[in-house]
Amino acid sequence: MDDKLKEVKAILKKYGQEHLLNHYDKLDESHKKKLLEEIEEIDFDLVNSLYESTKKELKNSKDEITPIDYLDKFKLGDKYKYYEDIGKKAIKEGKLATVTMAGGQGTRLGHDGPKGTYDIGLDSHKSLFELLCDGLKEEGKKYGVTIPWFIMTSKENNDETVKFFKEHKYFGYEKDKNLFFFIQGELPMVDTEGKILIGEDGLIKLAADGHGGVYESLVKDGMTKKMRELGVEWVFIGGVDNCLVNMVDPVLIGIAIDKKVTVACKSVVKANPHEKVGVFCRKNGKPNVIEYSEITDEMAEARDKDGELLYGESHILCNLFSVDAIERMGAEPLPYHVAYKKATYIDKDGNLVVPDSPNAYKFEAFLFDAFSEVDDMAVLRVKREEEFAPVKNSDEAGVDCPKTARELYKKFHHLD
Ligand code: UD1
Repeated sequence: MDDKLKEVKAILKKYGQEHLLNHYDKLDESHKKKLLEEIEEIDFDLVNSLYESTKKELKNSKDEITPIDYLDKFKLGDKYKYYEDIGKKAIKEGKLATVTMAGGQGTRLGHDGPKGTYDIGLDSHKSLFELLCDGLKEEGKKYGVTIPWFIMTSKENNDETVKFFKEHKYFGYEKDKNLFFFIQGELPMVDTEGKILIGEDGLIKLAADGHGGVYESLVKDGMTKKMRELGVEWVFIGGVDNCLVNMVDPVLIGIAIDKKVTVACKSVVKANPHEKVGVFCRKNGKPNVIEYSEITDEMAEARDKDGELLYGESHILCNLFSVDAIERMGAEPLPYHVAYKKATYIDKDGNLVVPDSPNAYKFEAFLFDAFSEVDDMAVLRVKREEEFAPVKNSDEAGVDCPKTARELYKKFHHLD
């Protein structure tokens, strides 16, 4: 241990992060060991460059943003059945798998636990995980297959998530046969001086590194290998917070196959120019999504000759990828975006600090930043009321909350 401690001290000195060992002596043996391991795992050069990036204006004004073409699922005419048949064949042949990104906690909802375990208040009291699973099982039955389900958790919520599934008998799925869990990456949080924070447990304050890490984690954790063994060619990746998510859409798959694109995404029409959703676009000619926090008012409000929003195809985190595309995307690091957040931590004198305003930086990669690596992709406009009922905020917010999600879910499933 002493040698290791010496090595760690030298690393910390080099990067000006010596404070991380300020309270080392007060920790028990297992925490001491864990802290040293965590420090050894930190890529300090990356953390430094991420901190430096917080001081710069991230937007590259030289980027040329242009609208992207899309297909409307309900204006495909005869082509609807044509695409659907192609997709149905692929599903029947077991070529589709799904990934649910469930690394988040339900904090914004006031829920103490993994977001997927949240009960949106239906009479059945089913959790988001169960609602998603119901949809998968129903679709699987139609095609005579069990659609493999991969769940991305975070270090923070993995144990609780797996325990929840076990308690519910995996909702009829079989762990390690058609249900797989994998854990997304994490990065340390830093304060406004670039110092890495120590959390309440005396260990490094780590935070999930955003859903952009999904590709790398799928590859690193052996999930794409598993997909290939299962004969999977197409993978739907979606969020856990949309209780109407339609993960098995033969039309979307048919379009991807027919148009020979490796990525096909669903969109819904933006409810209003300032709705908090990312919108599909082209950035320097390549497919991309521009986040609601990054779009200018002028662009958000621009309309075409028919009066439709020029940037009106909302990204709803319903995206289909070929396994090849995931592996390619997993090989390239994505840029990180900075979020300024409230973080409880232990200061250099050993006091617990519970801030009431943001005090620390969190770094996250976004899954759609990888879109610019593909030559082309298809965007399919679907109906909001059929496929998009996100649960993001508590009911007080009035939008994207349990109440709105419940109403949409009930309406779609004729539960009233
Ligand atoms: C997101 C999209 C936005 C889109 C909107 C639609 C981003 C940055 N923006 O916004 O373009 O229009 O959803 O609902 O994503 N997750 C993880 N690990 C992480 C972070 C997120 O698994 O590290 C999962 C969450 O559990 C959730 C999903 O990703 O299922 C969405 O994340 P969230 O942070 O809620 O994104 P939004 O800001 O709502």
